[in-house]
Amino acid sequence: MTPSQNNPIGVIDSGVGGISVLKSIRKYLPYEKLIYVADSKYAPYGEKSSEDITHRMLTIFEFLNKIKVKSIVVACNTATAASIGTLRNQFNFPIVGMEPAVKPASLLSKNRVVGILATSGTLLSAKFAALLEHHANDIHFITQPCFGLVELVEQGDLESVKLTTLLKKYIDPLLKENIDTLVLGCTHYSFLKPAIQNLMPSYINIVDTGDAVAVYLKHVLIEKNLLNHDILPGITDFWTNSLDQNADKVITSLWGGDPISFNYKGLWI
Ligand code: DGL
Repeated sequence: MTPSQNNPIGVIDSGVGGISVLKSIRKYLPYEKLIYVADSKYAPYGEKSSEDITHRMLTIFEFLNKIKVKSIVVACNTATAASIGTLRNQFNFPIVGMEPAVKPASLLSKNRVVGILATSGTLLSAKFAALLEHHANDIHFITQPCFGLVELVEQGDLESVKLTTLLKKYIDPLLKENIDTLVLGCTHYSFLKPAIQNLMPSYINIVDTGDAVAVYLKHVLIEKNLLNHDILPGITDFWTNSLDQNADKVITSLWGGDPISFNYKGLWI
């Protein structure tokens, strides 16, 4: 095995949302060392400028680059939309980003009415406009920015009355438009799937991108000869700059993983 095959993969997000993607990555790549970075001190990214988000991404990339990661997954739709081009220009290792599952949704929808929940940063980005344009065809896409949801997920709130009320406010208008497919275009929202399902008829498809990104990452690693051929399960390290006393508990409960492969590393930046 070459040294680089043995190096870890970084997975990063504005906070804990990308753990939903991390779970998929762990499922498809059980032998890889994974380092998750939650930039929770600076969450949410949704209403920050592209410049500010890019600055945060560069800071985290430098940190992970020093650890010698072999690849980074930007497990954040908002950060991908704001900064993926700059990041790919500055770093040589493979960088995998996220985008709302517009294409899978357009293949699934029968009545051609699709709702998309995402942050305002994602919905207002040029990258998202191009994505919609590409898949527009005969589909009516209804976009809904969801202010306040990321903050609740950051606190580990996946089901309170406050959360349900907020979700209802965002979902009801989409139901009135008769959507048959709903895209979760923010990695934090994947943790709200059960709460969202409770507010919608069961025939509505809910799509997110965690599994697709994990499969794509595996493909990239194979193609670049970077796959880890270890036979022991990979370690998963968590880093967070959260100032919340409960950050470790929230991460542990969202990860829900095998404690043997879990290290909480505390504050880092
Ligand atoms: N998980 C990020 C995303 O996928 C959340 C953005 C935020 O922090 O507002 O867009």
